[in-house]
Amino acid sequence: MTFIPNGEVKNRVSLLSQLIKTTRGFMPESEGLALAHGIWLTQELPPHPAVEIGSYLGLSTIYLGTVAKMLGLKLITIDHHRGSEEIQPGWEHHDPSLVDPVSGRMDTLYGLRRTITLAGLNSSVIIVASDSQTFASVFETTIGFLFIDGGHGKEQAHLDFDDWVPKLADGGILAIHDVFENLQLGGTPPYEIYLRSKEMGFRQLYEAGSLRVMQKER
Ligand SMILES: C[S@@+](CC[C@H](N)C(=O)[O-])C[C@H]1O[C@@H](n2cnc3c(N)ncnc32)[C@H](O)[C@@H]1O
Repeated sequence: MTFIPNGEVKNRVSLLSQLIKTTRGFMPESEGLALAHGIWLTQELPPHPAVEIGSYLGLSTIYLGTVAKMLGLKLITIDHHRGSEEIQPGWEHHDPSLVDPVSGRMDTLYGLRRTITLAGLNSSVIIVASDSQTFASVFETTIGFLFIDGGHGKEQAHLDFDDWVPKLADGGILAIHDVFENLQLGGTPPYEIYLRSKEMGFRQLYEAGSLRVMQKER
């Protein structure tokens, strides 16, 4: 399951390489290109919107939004912007500059909006500042692409799977980040939902780092 990045996608993404370098986040370039390729594959489907759970400051959103724009699709990126458990104060990946001095809580919404604007993606990316579960309860549209990279705790990862995977069209693409089988390398919940997708008949298309890209049966 080797993955060869599409040349057109690679060229468009490379135009934003400076922004990609300076945007803080959790997506190495090799995985970002693999993610971008996943949404590119949805052009075989009717033009459904794409969904990303876990925007943070928009690093992965640059890759996805760039291809959404190429395909004339809308990308909905969802985050409550209060940070996951593992990026709160005291944790290794915590960034104190992201704490709002008024509320004393993390707030990545301003940074995300800035990234999307600098990337020229305002007309393709719809920012949703909400808990993924709350938004799922009112969102009834079929989607062609789903990227799960929100809360990595056991309960949240499975909730995102339960709430959002049923909204995927037949033949739709599912990407899951931070899939680590080995407990010492990271959390297991993304790996558990990856296994669930396989049990449901999703076919693995390729992988890159901890990213797995799957396709729902047609
Ligand atoms: C690992 S980060 C996402 C990284 C991002 N995709 C990137 O490439 O840099 C996870 C994000 O999910 C968000 N998050 C965690 N639980 C959530 C939930 N239940 N609903 C919405 N967002 C959530 C956090 O606020 C955090 O910004």
